[in-house]
Amino acid sequence: MNVGIIGSGGREHAICNSLKISRRIKEIYCFPGNAGTSFIAKNIEIDLTNFEKLKKLIKQFNIDLIIIGPEKPLVDGLVDFLKKNEIKVFGPNKIASQLEGSKIFTKNLCKKYNIPTANFGVFNNIKESLSFLDKCIFPIVVKADGLAAGKGVYICESLEHSINAVNEIFNGKFGEAKNILIEEFLKGEEMSFFIISDGENYKKFGSAQDHKRVLEGDRGKNTGGMGAYSPSRLENEDLNKKILEKIIEPTLKGLKELNTEFVGFLYAGLMIIKNEPFLIEYNVRMGDPECQTILPRLKTDFFEVIEACTSKNLREIKLEWFEEKSICIVLCSKGYPDKYQNNIEIKNLEKIKLENNSFVYHAGTKIKDSNVYSNGGRVLNFVTKSKNLKESRNDLINLINDLNWENGYFRKDIGFKLFE
Ligand code: AMP
Ligand code: GLY
Repeated sequence: MNVGIIGSGGREHAICNSLKISRRIKEIYCFPGNAGTSFIAKNIEIDLTNFEKLKKLIKQFNIDLIIIGPEKPLVDGLVDFLKKNEIKVFGPNKIASQLEGSKIFTKNLCKKYNIPTANFGVFNNIKESLSFLDKCIFPIVVKADGLAAGKGVYICESLEHSINAVNEIFNGKFGEAKNILIEEFLKGEEMSFFIISDGENYKKFGSAQDHKRVLEGDRGKNTGGMGAYSPSRLENEDLNKKILEKIIEPTLKGLKELNTEFVGFLYAGLMIIKNEPFLIEYNVRMGDPECQTILPRLKTDFFEVIEACTSKNLREIKLEWFEEKSICIVLCSKGYPDKYQNNIEIKNLEKIKLENNSFVYHAGTKIKDSNVYSNGGRVLNFVTKSKNLKESRNDLINLINDLNWENGYFRKDIGFKLFE
Protein backbone atom coordinates (compact mmCIF):
# COMPACT_ATOMS: atom_id res chain seq x y z
CA MET A 1 0.00 0.00 0.00
CA ASN A 2 1.12 3.55 -0.69
CA VAL A 3 -0.04 6.08 1.89
CA GLY A 4 -0.07 9.87 1.84
CA ILE A 5 0.06 12.07 4.95
CA ILE A 6 -1.14 15.66 4.88
CA GLY A 7 0.74 18.04 7.20
CA SER A 8 4.23 19.00 8.31
CA GLY A 9 4.37 18.94 12.12
CA GLY A 10 5.60 16.67 14.87
CA ARG A 11 2.25 14.90 14.80
CA GLU A 12 2.73 14.03 11.13
CA HIS A 13 6.29 12.80 11.67
CA ALA A 14 5.01 10.55 14.47
CA ILE A 15 2.22 9.25 12.19
CA CYS A 16 4.79 8.65 9.45
CA ASN A 17 7.01 6.71 11.85
CA SER A 18 4.15 4.52 13.06
CA LEU A 19 3.14 3.71 9.49
CA LYS A 20 6.73 2.96 8.54
CA ILE A 21 6.88 0.00 10.92
CA SER A 22 3.71 -1.49 9.47
CA ARG A 23 4.56 -4.45 7.26
CA ARG A 24 1.86 -3.54 4.74
CA ILE A 25 3.23 -0.13 3.76
CA LYS A 26 5.25 0.19 0.60
CA GLU A 27 5.81 3.92 0.16
CA ILE A 28 4.84 6.97 2.24
CA TYR A 29 4.36 10.43 0.76
CA CYS A 30 4.18 13.55 2.95
CA PHE A 31 2.42 16.67 1.73
CA PRO A 32 4.61 18.61 2.47
CA GLY A 33 6.33 16.94 5.48
CA ASN A 34 9.51 18.20 7.18
CA ALA A 35 13.20 17.29 7.39
CA GLY A 36 12.38 14.36 9.68
CA THR A 37 9.82 12.81 7.35
CA SER A 38 12.19 13.24 4.39
CA PHE A 39 14.46 10.56 5.92
CA ILE A 40 11.70 7.91 5.89
CA ALA A 41 9.22 9.10 3.25
CA LYS A 42 8.98 11.20 0.12
CA ASN A 43 8.19 14.86 0.80
CA ILE A 44 6.11 16.63 -1.83
CA GLU A 45 5.96 20.45 -1.74
CA ILE A 46 2.39 21.66 -2.20
CA ASP A 47 -0.04 24.44 -1.36
CA LEU A 48 -2.62 22.55 0.70
CA THR A 49 -5.47 24.78 -0.43
CA ASN A 50 -4.96 23.53 -4.01
CA PHE A 51 -7.14 20.40 -3.87
CA GLU A 52 -7.00 19.77 -7.65
CA LYS A 53 -3.21 19.68 -7.65
CA LEU A 54 -3.23 17.37 -4.66
CA LYS A 55 -5.62 15.01 -6.45
CA LYS A 56 -3.30 14.88 -9.47
CA LEU A 57 -0.29 14.04 -7.30
CA ILE A 58 -2.22 11.35 -5.41
CA LYS A 59 -3.10 9.68 -8.72
CA GLN A 60 0.39 10.18 -10.13
CA PHE A 61 2.03 8.42 -7.16
CA ASN A 62 -0.64 5.68 -6.96
CA ILE A 63 -1.47 6.56 -3.38
CA ASP A 64 -4.09 4.20 -1.93
CA LEU A 65 -4.98 6.08 1.23
CA ILE A 66 -4.66 9.63 2.55
CA ILE A 67 -4.38 10.50 6.27
CA ILE A 68 -5.02 14.13 7.18
CA GLY A 69 -3.13 15.51 10.21
CA PRO A 70 -4.10 19.18 10.70
CA GLU A 71 -7.49 20.85 11.12
CA LYS A 72 -7.44 23.38 8.30
CA PRO A 73 -7.77 20.97 5.32
CA LEU A 74 -10.46 19.07 7.27
CA VAL A 75 -12.50 22.19 7.96
CA ASP A 76 -11.97 23.26 4.32
CA GLY A 77 -13.61 20.01 3.15
CA LEU A 78 -10.65 18.03 1.82
CA VAL A 79 -12.24 14.74 2.91
CA ASP A 80 -15.42 15.48 0.94
CA PHE A 81 -13.36 16.45 -2.11
CA LEU A 82 -11.19 13.31 -2.04
CA LYS A 83 -14.17 11.02 -1.47
CA LYS A 84 -15.98 12.58 -4.40
CA ASN A 85 -12.92 11.71 -6.45
CA GLU A 86 -12.95 8.15 -5.15
CA ILE A 87 -9.77 8.52 -3.10
CA LYS A 88 -9.72 6.66 0.23
CA VAL A 89 -9.20 9.06 3.11
CA PHE A 90 -9.02 8.99 6.91
CA GLY A 91 -10.51 12.05 8.59
CA PRO A 92 -13.87 13.71 9.27
CA ASN A 93 -15.95 15.39 6.58
CA LYS A 94 -16.66 19.10 6.40
CA ILE A 95 -19.86 19.04 8.45
CA ALA A 96 -18.35 16.92 11.24
CA SER A 97 -15.25 19.13 11.21
CA GLN A 98 -17.44 22.00 12.36
CA LEU A 99 -16.85 20.55 15.83
CA GLU A 100 -13.49 22.31 15.59
CA GLY A 101 -14.25 24.82 12.84
CA SER A 102 -17.01 26.57 14.79
CA LYS A 103 -16.96 26.84 18.56
CA ILE A 104 -20.57 28.03 18.43
CA PHE A 105 -21.63 24.92 16.49
CA THR A 106 -20.16 22.80 19.29
CA LYS A 107 -21.68 24.91 22.05
CA ASN A 108 -25.13 24.61 20.48
CA LEU A 109 -24.67 20.85 20.22
CA CYS A 110 -23.72 20.79 23.92
CA LYS A 111 -26.86 22.68 24.78
CA LYS A 112 -29.12 20.44 22.71
CA TYR A 113 -27.69 17.19 24.11
CA ASN A 114 -27.01 18.33 27.66
CA ILE A 115 -23.24 17.89 27.33
CA PRO A 116 -21.44 19.41 30.32
CA THR A 117 -19.58 22.57 29.29
CA ALA A 118 -19.05 26.13 30.54
CA ASN A 119 -22.18 28.32 30.53
CA PHE A 120 -22.10 30.61 27.53
CA GLY A 121 -23.72 33.31 25.46
CA VAL A 122 -23.45 34.09 21.74
CA PHE A 123 -23.47 37.75 20.66
CA ASN A 124 -23.55 39.24 17.19
CA ASN A 125 -22.43 42.81 17.87
CA ILE A 126 -20.07 44.83 20.02
CA LYS A 127 -22.77 46.78 21.87
CA GLU A 128 -24.64 43.74 23.21
CA SER A 129 -21.40 41.94 24.05
CA LEU A 130 -20.24 44.91 26.11
CA SER A 131 -23.49 45.40 27.94
CA PHE A 132 -23.40 41.68 28.89
CA LEU A 133 -19.77 41.95 30.06
CA ASP A 134 -20.66 44.93 32.19
CA LYS A 135 -22.71 42.60 34.44
CA CYS A 136 -20.18 39.71 34.53
CA ILE A 137 -17.99 38.43 37.29
CA PHE A 138 -14.36 38.01 36.20
CA PRO A 139 -12.38 36.07 35.01
CA ILE A 140 -14.44 35.40 31.91
CA VAL A 141 -13.54 33.81 28.58
CA VAL A 142 -14.08 35.52 25.21
CA LYS A 143 -13.66 33.43 22.05
CA ALA A 144 -13.66 33.95 18.30
CA ASP A 145 -15.94 31.41 16.61
CA GLY A 146 -13.72 29.99 13.85
CA LEU A 147 -10.22 28.54 13.48
CA ALA A 148 -7.65 30.95 14.85
CA ALA A 149 -4.50 28.79 15.08
CA GLY A 150 -4.96 28.57 18.84
CA LYS A 151 -5.05 32.35 19.27
CA GLY A 152 -8.75 33.21 19.34
CA VAL A 153 -9.27 32.57 23.06
CA TYR A 154 -8.95 35.36 25.64
CA ILE A 155 -8.98 34.57 29.34
CA CYS A 156 -10.04 37.98 30.67
CA GLU A 157 -9.21 39.00 34.22
CA SER A 158 -10.91 42.39 33.95
CA LEU A 159 -13.66 44.29 32.14
CA GLU A 160 -11.04 46.32 30.31
CA HIS A 161 -9.30 43.19 28.99
CA SER A 162 -12.61 41.70 27.83
CA ILE A 163 -13.59 44.91 26.01
CA ASN A 164 -10.30 44.74 24.15
CA ALA A 165 -10.98 41.07 23.23
CA VAL A 166 -14.46 41.84 21.89
CA ASN A 167 -13.13 44.75 19.83
CA GLU A 168 -10.23 42.75 18.40
CA ILE A 169 -12.48 39.85 17.38
CA PHE A 170 -15.23 42.00 15.81
CA ASN A 171 -12.60 44.12 14.08
CA GLY A 172 -11.51 41.03 12.19
CA LYS A 173 -8.29 39.94 13.92
CA PHE A 174 -9.22 36.31 13.16
CA GLY A 175 -11.14 36.92 9.95
CA GLU A 176 -14.68 38.17 9.51
CA ALA A 177 -16.61 37.73 12.79
CA LYS A 178 -20.41 37.51 12.72
CA ASN A 179 -20.63 36.14 16.23
CA ILE A 180 -18.64 35.97 19.41
CA LEU A 181 -18.72 33.51 22.27
CA ILE A 182 -18.52 34.63 25.88
CA GLU A 183 -18.26 31.89 28.47
CA GLU A 184 -17.85 31.12 32.11
CA PHE A 185 -14.27 30.49 33.30
CA LEU A 186 -13.88 26.92 34.55
CA LYS A 187 -11.28 26.24 37.21
CA GLY A 188 -9.90 22.73 37.18
CA GLU A 189 -7.21 20.66 35.48
CA GLU A 190 -7.12 20.09 31.73
CA MET A 191 -6.97 16.74 30.00
CA SER A 192 -6.76 15.77 26.33
CA PHE A 193 -8.96 12.75 25.63
CA PHE A 194 -9.03 10.90 22.31
CA ILE A 195 -11.28 8.48 20.50
CA ILE A 196 -11.03 7.00 17.02
CA SER A 197 -14.19 6.35 15.03
CA ASP A 198 -15.15 4.66 11.76
CA GLY A 199 -18.53 6.39 11.62
CA GLU A 200 -20.36 3.47 13.23
CA ASN A 201 -18.21 2.43 16.15
CA TYR A 202 -15.60 4.18 18.20
CA LYS A 203 -12.77 3.21 20.52
CA LYS A 204 -10.94 5.17 23.17
CA PHE A 205 -7.52 6.22 21.85
CA GLY A 206 -5.65 7.28 24.98
CA SER A 207 -5.32 10.47 26.97
CA ALA A 208 -2.57 12.98 27.58
CA GLN A 209 -1.83 16.19 29.37
CA ASP A 210 -0.53 19.01 27.25
CA HIS A 211 1.42 21.99 28.60
CA LYS A 212 0.18 24.87 26.48
CA ARG A 213 1.87 27.78 28.23
CA VAL A 214 5.31 28.85 27.14
CA LEU A 215 6.89 29.26 30.59
CA GLU A 216 7.65 26.80 33.36
CA GLY A 217 4.94 26.39 35.98
CA ASP A 218 2.30 26.73 33.20
CA ARG A 219 2.74 30.50 33.03
CA GLY A 220 3.05 32.94 30.14
CA LYS A 221 1.48 32.94 26.70
CA ASN A 222 -0.48 30.12 25.13
CA THR A 223 1.38 28.09 22.49
CA GLY A 224 0.54 25.11 20.31
CA GLY A 225 1.94 22.93 23.10
CA MET A 226 5.36 22.86 24.81
CA GLY A 227 5.25 19.22 25.84
CA ALA A 228 2.95 16.47 27.04
CA TYR A 229 2.80 13.16 28.79
CA SER A 230 0.49 10.19 28.37
CA PRO A 231 -1.69 8.93 29.92
CA SER A 232 -3.04 11.94 31.81
CA ARG A 233 -2.59 11.65 35.57
CA LEU A 234 -6.31 12.38 35.90
CA GLU A 235 -7.44 9.26 34.04
CA ASN A 236 -9.51 6.68 35.94
CA GLU A 237 -12.28 4.20 35.04
CA ASP A 238 -15.06 6.28 36.55
CA LEU A 239 -13.96 9.45 34.74
CA ASN A 240 -13.53 7.60 31.41
CA LYS A 241 -17.08 6.31 31.70
CA LYS A 242 -18.44 9.80 32.37
CA ILE A 243 -16.50 11.28 29.44
CA LEU A 244 -17.77 8.63 27.04
CA GLU A 245 -21.37 8.68 28.24
CA LYS A 246 -21.87 12.39 28.90
CA ILE A 247 -19.68 13.91 26.19
CA ILE A 248 -18.50 11.62 23.37
CA GLU A 249 -21.61 9.52 22.79
CA PRO A 250 -24.11 12.40 22.72
CA THR A 251 -21.80 14.22 20.30
CA LEU A 252 -21.65 11.27 17.90
CA LYS A 253 -25.41 10.90 18.22
CA GLY A 254 -25.86 14.61 17.50
CA LEU A 255 -23.84 14.26 14.28
CA LYS A 256 -25.93 11.21 13.27
CA GLU A 257 -29.07 13.30 13.74
CA LEU A 258 -27.55 15.86 11.37
CA ASN A 259 -27.33 12.97 8.87
CA THR A 260 -23.60 12.81 9.03
CA GLU A 261 -20.94 10.72 10.73
CA PHE A 262 -17.54 11.08 12.32
CA VAL A 263 -14.60 9.18 10.81
CA GLY A 264 -11.20 9.98 12.26
CA PHE A 265 -9.69 11.07 15.56
CA LEU A 266 -11.85 13.14 17.85
CA TYR A 267 -9.95 15.05 20.53
CA ALA A 268 -11.93 16.36 23.47
CA GLY A 269 -10.18 19.19 25.33
CA LEU A 270 -11.63 18.77 28.82
CA MET A 271 -11.58 20.59 32.12
CA ILE A 272 -11.79 18.10 34.98
CA ILE A 273 -13.34 19.45 38.16
CA LYS A 274 -13.58 17.02 41.10
CA ASN A 275 -13.53 14.03 38.73
CA GLU A 276 -16.34 15.53 36.59
CA PRO A 277 -15.57 16.29 32.92
CA PHE A 278 -16.53 19.54 31.16
CA LEU A 279 -15.97 20.03 27.45
CA ILE A 280 -13.78 23.07 26.69
CA GLU A 281 -13.40 22.40 22.98
CA TYR A 282 -13.30 19.73 20.32
CA ASN A 283 -10.53 19.15 17.81
CA VAL A 284 -11.23 16.86 14.88
CA ARG A 285 -7.73 15.42 14.68
CA MET A 286 -4.91 14.15 16.88
CA GLY A 287 -3.33 16.70 19.23
CA ASP A 288 0.17 17.99 18.69
CA PRO A 289 2.26 17.18 20.82
CA GLU A 290 -0.20 14.65 22.33
CA CYS A 291 0.06 12.42 19.26
CA GLN A 292 3.81 12.14 19.72
CA THR A 293 3.20 10.64 23.18
CA ILE A 294 0.24 8.41 22.30
CA LEU A 295 1.41 6.67 19.12
CA PRO A 296 4.62 5.26 20.67
CA ARG A 297 2.38 3.57 23.27
CA LEU A 298 0.24 1.82 20.65
CA LYS A 299 1.09 -1.88 20.28
CA THR A 300 -1.45 -2.64 17.53
CA ASP A 301 -0.35 -2.00 13.94
CA PHE A 302 -1.36 1.64 13.36
CA PHE A 303 -2.02 1.17 9.67
CA GLU A 304 -4.42 -1.73 10.40
CA VAL A 305 -6.34 0.58 12.73
CA ILE A 306 -6.61 3.36 10.15
CA GLU A 307 -7.54 0.98 7.38
CA ALA A 308 -10.23 -0.61 9.55
CA CYS A 309 -11.71 2.86 10.06
CA THR A 310 -11.89 3.62 6.37
CA SER A 311 -13.71 0.32 5.77
CA LYS A 312 -16.05 0.65 8.78
CA ASN A 313 -14.39 -2.32 10.44
CA LEU A 314 -13.05 -0.76 13.63
CA ARG A 315 -15.18 -3.10 15.75
CA GLU A 316 -12.99 -6.04 14.61
CA ILE A 317 -9.77 -4.38 15.81
CA LYS A 318 -8.45 -4.91 19.31
CA LEU A 319 -6.43 -1.89 20.38
CA GLU A 320 -3.48 -2.93 22.52
CA TRP A 321 -1.15 -0.57 24.36
CA PHE A 322 2.29 -0.83 25.90
CA GLU A 323 2.35 -0.45 29.66
CA GLU A 324 5.02 2.23 29.62
CA LYS A 325 4.10 5.90 29.96
CA SER A 326 5.48 8.47 27.60
CA ILE A 327 6.65 12.06 27.75
CA CYS A 328 7.48 14.65 25.11
CA ILE A 329 9.50 17.85 25.41
CA VAL A 330 9.17 20.35 22.57
CA LEU A 331 12.26 22.29 21.53
CA CYS A 332 11.18 25.63 20.07
CA SER A 333 12.82 28.57 18.41
CA LYS A 334 13.79 31.29 20.92
CA GLY A 335 11.08 33.95 20.96
CA TYR A 336 8.17 31.59 20.15
CA PRO A 337 5.15 32.12 20.34
CA ASP A 338 6.05 35.71 19.44
CA LYS A 339 8.71 36.66 16.92
CA TYR A 340 11.44 34.15 16.16
CA GLN A 341 14.01 33.54 13.47
CA ASN A 342 13.81 30.77 10.87
CA ASN A 343 16.54 29.20 8.75
CA ILE A 344 18.99 28.54 11.55
CA GLU A 345 21.02 25.40 11.05
CA ILE A 346 20.53 22.59 13.56
CA LYS A 347 23.89 20.90 13.81
CA ASN A 348 24.76 17.90 16.01
CA LEU A 349 21.57 15.96 15.19
CA GLU A 350 23.76 12.94 14.47
CA LYS A 351 25.24 13.25 17.97
CA ILE A 352 21.91 12.39 19.55
CA LYS A 353 22.09 8.75 20.54
CA LEU A 354 18.59 7.36 20.90
CA GLU A 355 17.92 4.32 23.05
CA ASN A 356 15.14 1.93 22.11
CA ASN A 357 11.89 3.62 23.09
CA SER A 358 13.18 7.15 22.42
CA PHE A 359 12.33 9.26 19.41
CA VAL A 360 13.08 12.65 17.93
CA TYR A 361 10.13 13.86 15.87
CA HIS A 362 10.73 16.88 13.68
CA ALA A 363 8.20 19.72 13.40
CA GLY A 364 9.41 23.08 12.02
CA THR A 365 12.46 21.79 10.14
CA LYS A 366 13.56 21.63 6.53
CA ILE A 367 16.45 20.16 4.55
CA LYS A 368 18.82 22.28 2.47
CA ASP A 369 21.94 20.74 0.88
CA SER A 370 21.66 17.77 3.26
CA ASN A 371 21.67 20.05 6.30
CA VAL A 372 18.72 20.58 8.66
CA TYR A 373 17.43 24.12 9.29
CA SER A 374 14.72 25.48 11.57
CA ASN A 375 11.48 26.35 9.81
CA GLY A 376 8.90 27.21 12.47
CA GLY A 377 8.17 27.98 16.12
CA ARG A 378 8.07 24.44 17.37
CA VAL A 379 11.12 22.69 15.92
CA LEU A 380 11.81 19.26 17.43
CA ASN A 381 9.97 16.88 19.75
CA PHE A 382 11.99 14.68 22.11
CA VAL A 383 9.95 11.67 23.22
CA THR A 384 10.58 8.64 25.34
CA LYS A 385 8.49 5.97 26.99
CA SER A 386 9.36 4.13 30.17
CA LYS A 387 8.02 3.11 33.56
CA ASN A 388 9.60 6.14 35.24
CA LEU A 389 8.69 9.48 33.71
CA LYS A 390 10.92 11.50 35.98
CA GLU A 391 13.98 9.57 34.78
CA SER A 392 12.64 9.82 31.22
CA ARG A 393 12.38 13.55 31.51
CA ASN A 394 15.98 13.80 32.71
CA ASP A 395 17.10 11.62 29.80
CA LEU A 396 15.30 13.91 27.35
CA ILE A 397 16.83 17.02 28.89
CA ASN A 398 20.29 15.40 28.50
CA LEU A 399 19.55 14.68 24.82
CA ILE A 400 18.51 18.29 24.24
CA ASN A 401 21.69 19.45 26.00
CA ASP A 402 23.73 17.12 23.75
CA LEU A 403 22.15 18.81 20.74
CA ASN A 404 23.13 22.16 22.21
CA TRP A 405 21.20 24.20 19.62
CA GLU A 406 21.89 27.80 20.57
CA ASN A 407 18.62 29.07 19.11
CA GLY A 408 16.49 26.60 21.10
CA TYR A 409 14.23 27.03 24.12
CA PHE A 410 12.38 24.30 26.03
CA ARG A 411 10.56 23.71 29.31
CA LYS A 412 12.34 21.46 31.80
CA ASP A 413 9.22 20.91 33.90
CA ILE A 414 6.90 18.95 31.58
CA GLY A 415 4.68 16.71 33.72
CA PHE A 416 5.58 18.60 36.92
CA LYS A 417 2.23 17.85 38.54
CA LEU A 418 3.09 14.14 38.38
CA PHE A 419 6.06 14.65 40.64
CA GLU A 420 4.74 17.21 43.13
P1 AMP B 1 -9.21 26.43 23.29
O1 AMP B 1 -8.55 27.02 22.06
O2 AMP B 1 -10.68 26.48 23.31
O3 AMP B 1 -8.60 25.11 23.67
O4 AMP B 1 -8.74 27.35 24.49
C1 AMP B 1 -7.37 27.52 24.77
C2 AMP B 1 -7.17 27.38 26.25
O5 AMP B 1 -7.92 28.35 26.94
C3 AMP B 1 -7.65 26.04 26.81
O6 AMP B 1 -6.71 25.03 26.66
C4 AMP B 1 -7.89 26.42 28.25
O7 AMP B 1 -6.66 26.43 28.93
C5 AMP B 1 -8.37 27.83 28.17
N1 AMP B 1 -9.85 27.90 28.21
C6 AMP B 1 -10.71 27.92 27.17
N2 AMP B 1 -11.98 27.99 27.61
C7 AMP B 1 -11.93 28.02 28.94
C8 AMP B 1 -12.92 28.10 29.98
N3 AMP B 1 -14.22 28.19 29.71
N4 AMP B 1 -12.50 28.11 31.26
C9 AMP B 1 -11.18 28.04 31.57
N5 AMP B 1 -10.21 27.98 30.65
C10 AMP B 1 -10.57 27.95 29.35
N1 GLY C 1 -1.93 20.43 21.72
C1 GLY C 1 -3.08 21.15 21.38
C2 GLY C 1 -3.58 20.93 20.03
O1 GLY C 1 -3.14 20.08 19.30
O2 GLY C 1 -4.52 21.65 19.66
